[in-house]
Amino acid sequence: MNTIEALKWRYATKKFDAHFDLPTDQLEQIKQSIQLAPSSYGLQPYQVLHIKDSNLRETLKPVSWGQPQITDASELLVFCNYSSMTNEQIDSSANAKGTFQNLPQDQVAGYAGFMKTKVGEKSPADVAHWNAKQTYIALANAMNMCAELELDCCPIEGFEADKYNDILGLTEKGLQACVVLAIGKRSEEDQTMHKPKYRRPADELFLSFD
Ligand SMILES: Cc1cc2nc3c(=O)[nH]c(=O)nc-3n(C[C@H](O)[C@H](O)[C@H](O)COP(=O)(O)O)c2cc1C
Repeated sequence: MNTIEALKWRYATKKFDAHFDLPTDQLEQIKQSIQLAPSSYGLQPYQVLHIKDSNLRETLKPVSWGQPQITDASELLVFCNYSSMTNEQIDSSANAKGTFQNLPQDQVAGYAGFMKTKVGEKSPADVAHWNAKQTYIALANAMNMCAELELDCCPIEGFEADKYNDILGLTEKGLQACVVLAIGKRSEEDQTMHKPKYRRPADELFLSFD
């Protein structure tokens, strides 16, 4: 399948085959696609939790609108954005990249200073929101990777973020649950796959400025 065919093939899977085990190499490719996601200034202001513990998944299900994907999918990823962006985090990111790319220290410090100024112009709520926006790019990479691998997935916003934060101890880690991705194989019983995919028409979606 080419990319467009894969994007037409994929759908937000409602019922997973609970017996399917995702091969490790495919999981690694999905993780790589997340790692390779672009982000503003390259700060990657998120962490992704891989929830393997089946008891924990049972605990998360009722605070996820009871959605069966939480327990039935082969893998469950919880994308968490940083709740803030401190000067220390900016320095750490800039220094790591500077060392990796062998950049001069004054250039690294200059770029870090610029980032600190720009981030400092945002309110704390805007910083958290900005971090969440970056997180969705990583989510999209993972979803597209799944489609390319002919794996099914379901992005999930239908959950109580505060409960996730409590259950997973995220607040003390400086994280906020942002969006969830269930990954696996569609159940043959999932009728959703037969629904024709509706999208807004292109002439409504795109505006041409000639
Ligand atoms: C950020 C995001 C959150 C979503 N949350 C849920 C969810 O909680 N449960 C669910 O079944 N589908 C969820 N969906 C799936 C959408 O309803 C679905 O992508 C949309 O209707 C288009 O259908 P398709 O993805 O099957 O083409 C979510 C999608 C996105 C992108």
